[in-house]
Amino acid sequence: MTPEPSLRATHSRRPDQTARIMADTGLDEATLHRLVHRFYERVRADARLGPIFAARITNWAPHLDRMVAFWSSVALMTGRYHGAPVPAHAGLPVGRDDFDRWLALFRATADEVCTPAGARHVIERAERIAQSLHQAVQDHQRIPAMPPSLR
Ligand code: HEM
Repeated sequence: MTPEPSLRATHSRRPDQTARIMADTGLDEATLHRLVHRFYERVRADARLGPIFAARITNWAPHLDRMVAFWSSVALMTGRYHGAPVPAHAGLPVGRDDFDRWLALFRATADEVCTPAGARHVIERAERIAQSLHQAVQDHQRIPAMPPSLR
């Protein structure tokens, strides 16, 4: 089991903003670590989403580390994540129902793990990002129907 990181956000590129968000929301690295780990336990056990992830992720430890860094960047503005979510999702065989399910599991986990203000903070961001990833998936699914001159 991965040890939980320190409660203090020691590695933020914007320490003042990170400290303010932590004070306002009760979020910290340890809470985000729990959020990510419990969320993906639910995802992996889910009849709809589980198989989609299982077909693509065999080594979960690096994925979970990356997702904690992602949420640290998104929720606490630490700048810990350096990656590209759009290409990782654009080609997935998913639609509105899959994103709705993802968000339902995320909301339930956030409500369980975070303070009410912390849950609002991460859920709002998850909804916005899910919307843009869903848009990227739809754009990708439309490309084959375009005339060659527009590709
Ligand atoms: C239907 C919903 C979703 C599915 C099935 C899904 C599936 C996946 C899969 C299979 C990967 C691993 C890709 C790879 O390593 O090749 C991945 C990566 C990732 N996902 Fe999702 N995802 C979904 C929604 C979301 C949402 C809503 C977010 C953000 C709020 C998100 C954030 C990420 C991030 C940050 C990565 C890592 C990208 C990277 O740096 O390589 N995903 N996802």
